[in-house]
Amino acid sequence: MSTIDISLTVNGRRVRTTAEARTQLSELLREEMNLTGTHVGCEQGVCGACTVFVDGKPQRSCISYAGDCDGSSVTTIEGFDDDALMDQLRDAFSRHHGLQCGFCTPGMLITARDIILRLGETSAVRIREELSGNLCRCTGYVGIVEAIQEVSKGKLAQASKSPAAKTEVAAIATAAGVPSRATSSTPRSEAPGQVASQAPRSSAITPSTTTGGRRGWSSIEQRLTVGFPPEVVWGRLADIREVSSCLPGAEITELEGDHIKGRMNVALGPMKVAFNGDGQVMLDPEQRVGRLSGGGRDTGSGSTAEGELEWRVLPGEVSGSLIQVNLSWRLSGRLAQFSRGGLVQDVIQRLASIFVSHLEAALKGEVVSEQAVKTLGISSLVWGVLKARIQRWRGLDR
Ligand code: FES
Ligand code: FES
Repeated sequence: MSTIDISLTVNGRRVRTTAEARTQLSELLREEMNLTGTHVGCEQGVCGACTVFVDGKPQRSCISYAGDCDGSSVTTIEGFDDDALMDQLRDAFSRHHGLQCGFCTPGMLITARDIILRLGETSAVRIREELSGNLCRCTGYVGIVEAIQEVSKGKLAQASKSPAAKTEVAAIATAAGVPSRATSSTPRSEAPGQVASQAPRSSAITPSTTTGGRRGWSSIEQRLTVGFPPEVVWGRLADIREVSSCLPGAEITELEGDHIKGRMNVALGPMKVAFNGDGQVMLDPEQRVGRLSGGGRDTGSGSTAEGELEWRVLPGEVSGSLIQVNLSWRLSGRLAQFSRGGLVQDVIQRLASIFVSHLEAALKGEVVSEQAVKTLGISSLVWGVLKARIQRWRGLDR
């Protein structure tokens, strides 16, 4: 059984331990550290009872490997004993009858604190949407929503102060066997508008990650240099069906003028969602910029997604063309609970890498079969991400 050394900060205390690679964060907290305020219900990322803060963001500890939190700062419900905002929430939950058996309460309080910090004063509708990843079997939610709304009154949203999360793009790309020659890790920056810099190497694909810009949105930028002149490249990229066929899981069901209807299939851990929605296409042949933006809803999970894909064709430094691809998204509902951990960001980073790889293949005249797009669906992406992480823990990726 392989074990790994883990060093993390839990409720402000430095902890060094050794655990099996498969150990979940919830297990480490409850069994090793006796922090039993972190409750475990479904153990598959759905109920939210196990939610803790990891680097300032709520995360499901039941589906987070402890080893993946190496170097992170974890705060459980016990770590908020002296927190003024948590005090207000506890008090409001009691007064509004926001708990009965209390099983869901630690996860609810942690999520509620995050909602108020991110949004400030907000509506009951928005609170219900944000809370959709936390299940309560007792209360009917009315008191919980009232309590959160009361505490949110008069508060302003705060910018995220969480430290940078770690992303290792090259390892992820290698693990899933997609043709990318990017070989170094790319740090993720949380500073608004800041682009994590990575000097172009000899590789054709240069991934970089940026967050910020619009509040609550995340985005990823990918760059690709190709040996064709910009007018030839733009000729291909002005075909919206061709562009969308490079995005795994995406399907256009209707295209009329600049209006588009489509579907995006995502399978993430135990959740399978199909976002049905519509959007707008914008093509600017003079600037050689294309933009596809829109939103959709998955009725099963109640999650909503807004997204924008922008591609820009520029002359290459010496010859050929440089293609910049920017993928931005915002999730709400149950899926958003996953996204505030690192996994969804990694998966979307991977999705963007595959999109660029498919784009490159299409420009070279290589056929990207429908089957290839399907088999590179998000389920395999998740496996690619997890496999890369496990390899990193074991020190196998050199
Ligand atoms: Fe983790 Fe249910 S126990 S989400
Ligand atoms: Fe019992 Fe929420 S109070 S599950």
